[in-house]
Amino acid sequence: MSRVTAPEIRARKGEAKIRMVTAYDYPTAKIADRAGADIILVGDSVANVVLGYADTLSVDTDVMVHHTAAVTRAEPNALVVGDMPWMSFHVSPEDTVRNAARLVREGGAAAVKIEGGRKRLDVITAVLDAEIPVMGHLGLTPQSVNVMGGYRVQGKRVHAAYEMISDAQALTDAGVFAIVLEGVPDRVAQIVTAEVSVPTIGIGAGAGCDGQVLVMHDVLGLGGGEYVPKFVRSYADLASDAVDALERFFADVESGAFPSADETYHMPDESFEILKDLVESETSADR
Ligand code: KIV
Repeated sequence: MSRVTAPEIRARKGEAKIRMVTAYDYPTAKIADRAGADIILVGDSVANVVLGYADTLSVDTDVMVHHTAAVTRAEPNALVVGDMPWMSFHVSPEDTVRNAARLVREGGAAAVKIEGGRKRLDVITAVLDAEIPVMGHLGLTPQSVNVMGGYRVQGKRVHAAYEMISDAQALTDAGVFAIVLEGVPDRVAQIVTAEVSVPTIGIGAGAGCDGQVLVMHDVLGLGGGEYVPKFVRSYADLASDAVDALERFFADVESGAFPSADETYHMPDESFEILKDLVESETSADR
């Protein structure tokens, strides 16, 4: 199967719903790909989900390159999008292009995601000019947590919603191939989706988007038991399954039921007899 490309995702507007999930390493990328993901996002949510930080502000380009490279080593069929972390696109267009290029060259990503609307148009345009496809991200942009005063739904008021629609149009005109809408009222997401010619991919933005994305660990129930937003649906409880599996392993270790003869390497009888004789003769010579 050939790899999914950014232009193919762009052309999916109004066609089949786009299936996107995060992954942060080799095994989760393999799992996402086997399940048929169209897009794997190496999200800066790696900060919270995998590295245990309170927010996404703690990861830099080095961390994102490290995790993106682990994902692309799985050689997924899905399009791999590397997330540009906080401060990797806030200094200058030159600095932004250099950081985006690291996600592509060292990480192996085929596209990058950048949070923000018209305010980020100069850096988004610079990355597009460097021939790197860009996915936009509007609404509840976690890198703005301190400015938003928490993780709050965005675009509830007319003015904010109108600004978001204008941002989406500007990003589309600039040339992004898709836009993530996070933490947005469903009616606003529907209007954005109708107003732009690129696919919208929702997370906490209702059913009217052109696709949906969730954090892999939320879908699998693999989180550390922290607060789970209302838009998350968990399809498994792998954390409980994992605890159960480990408890059974430890019980078998305690009882001696693990390892069995089948799980053990054996020396041929003949060699063992020779070894025993050798050890015994050396021991009696020492006495
Ligand atoms: O980092 C991330 O996981 C994201 C998704 C929530 C869209 O940006």
